[in-house]
Amino acid sequence: MDGNGRWAQSQGHLRTLGHREGSHAVRRIVRAARRLGVQALTLFAFSEQNWERPAPEVMALMELLREYLLTEREELLENGIRLRAVGRIDRLPATVRDVLDPLMAETAELRGMTLTLALSYGGREEIVDVARRLAERARAGELDPREVDEALFEANVPSVDVGRVDLLVRTGGEQRISNFLLWGAAYAELHFTERLWPDFDEADLYEAVAAYQRRDRRFGRVTSADHEPHPRAAE
Ligand code: IPE
Ligand code: MG
Repeated sequence: MDGNGRWAQSQGHLRTLGHREGSHAVRRIVRAARRLGVQALTLFAFSEQNWERPAPEVMALMELLREYLLTEREELLENGIRLRAVGRIDRLPATVRDVLDPLMAETAELRGMTLTLALSYGGREEIVDVARRLAERARAGELDPREVDEALFEANVPSVDVGRVDLLVRTGGEQRISNFLLWGAAYAELHFTERLWPDFDEADLYEAVAAYQRRDRRFGRVTSADHEPHPRAAE
């Protein structure tokens, strides 16, 4: 979700106003994705690297996140949306954790759609965390290092819990992945749009999905297939 700052600055406002407008876009897109029948939507809301932004901007983002969680509770429950979070959640302030944790618990059994917020998230950091956990299990004698293969590694990557990424959309004109879902997006179709996140609407989402539907996904094979083969399938 890129372009909040530029959206605000282009209108002579402070960056934080762009983030507020961006939170309205989140509401709109979560609703539209649910209506489209999307099973899983992961939003890159705050990266590990975003902590380096000026403190007032970080505080404003955390406050907006808290507000979003408080006001969207009913919408999530009514629409059967399960809320998850990936990232170094323990770094978030208590004001956010206090609303995030209960809402994740309350929606845990819902299956209409899974909405995952990537918070204090980094794709490399996530992969390193998996490596560390597996190494610790090996040291404790619970895991034979020879058992570590792609499938076992992947089973420990939290952001892949809802499946691998089919479509990755980046707004705001940059054409890079910027440490988003590195493991799960290995074969993701990429869609880049100039649209700044606060302006991103239903029509833009439909356009991204339509572009995805025109792609031919082969996953390294010669004939097209709908789904990325599971690593075990190759054995
Ligand atoms: C939002 O856009 C991304 C978040 C960290 C929430 P930006 O804040 O990166 O906006 P630009 O890139 O400066 O326009
Ligand atoms: Mg940006």
